[in-house]
Amino acid sequence: MTHPSNPTARPQIVVLGTGGTIAGTATADPSLPGYTAGVLRVDALLQGIPALSRLAQIHTEQVANIDSKDMDFAVWTRLAERVAHWLDQPHITGCVISHGTDTLEETAYFLRLVQRTDKPVVLTAAMRPATALDADGPQNLLDAVRVAVQPQARGLGVVCVLHGRVHAARDVTKARTHQVDAFSSGERGPLGEVDGDALRLWRQPAAEPGAPWPIPARDAWPRVDILLNHVGADGAVVRCLVASPAQHPPLRGLVIAGTGGGTVHQQLEAALQWAQQQGVRVEVASRVGPLRGGAEDGLNAVKLRVRLLLELAALQ
Ligand code: SIN
Repeated sequence: MTHPSNPTARPQIVVLGTGGTIAGTATADPSLPGYTAGVLRVDALLQGIPALSRLAQIHTEQVANIDSKDMDFAVWTRLAERVAHWLDQPHITGCVISHGTDTLEETAYFLRLVQRTDKPVVLTAAMRPATALDADGPQNLLDAVRVAVQPQARGLGVVCVLHGRVHAARDVTKARTHQVDAFSSGERGPLGEVDGDALRLWRQPAAEPGAPWPIPARDAWPRVDILLNHVGADGAVVRCLVASPAQHPPLRGLVIAGTGGGTVHQQLEAALQWAQQQGVRVEVASRVGPLRGGAEDGLNAVKLRVRLLLELAALQ
């Protein structure tokens, strides 16, 4: 790929590090199993991929270095601000973010909903730590940069590049707990695939009605929780959450992962109606997978929560 005003220049890509297994190392004590996520810095991850320098001029920034199960709103606000900062610069072609797999789909959808540019934002991750003999991180990072430099990637929104596939932020979900091929875009399927240095696109992502939303300040995020419908769901948790005076910030919204097509137990339903009368916004997804049709089309419960968070933050 070349820069339009200088055919010999490589595109400039910023890679932001946030942690995850991709930056993980085996535990120091060989008698202990496993590894620690979010240890190595993003510069160190890229040093192991010499092929990158052929594709792009790389800038890096370490935004966080955490296990993504611990992702929080302060990091989200900072990450979105840094993505916007870099992509506002005319010489920057695109942004790659290295992240943990566990909450990758939430961060991707958040960034999609606040995105104000058509430059590509590409998240990637790994299922095996950087110190594993068969680490999948280097290939995924290389593929992410391969996608970020492509003119075709402009206008795709935020995408996730994992195991050679390109997923839309709206559709992608972690579907397997151990396999390297851990991500799925459900019945919609991926947007495309990485084929060597080329990007093969099969379809375009869906539009995001209402986007872009403002990036909430780090202390201006409302409280929105997710509850599951299940056998014997009697709504007691809803009543406790709404009535608790100790919560800060107070509960502003609830997302219910309903059964089947978004159904809820009659007792939970009664508690939710009461919660709405107390001013709590209630949205219903399904614990089975994304619902079809309406504003929730294609969104699972965690993504519906991301959208509700941004809607409620914009109101306050
Ligand atoms: C994490 O999400 O940070 C740890 C798990 C992973 O990246 O696979």
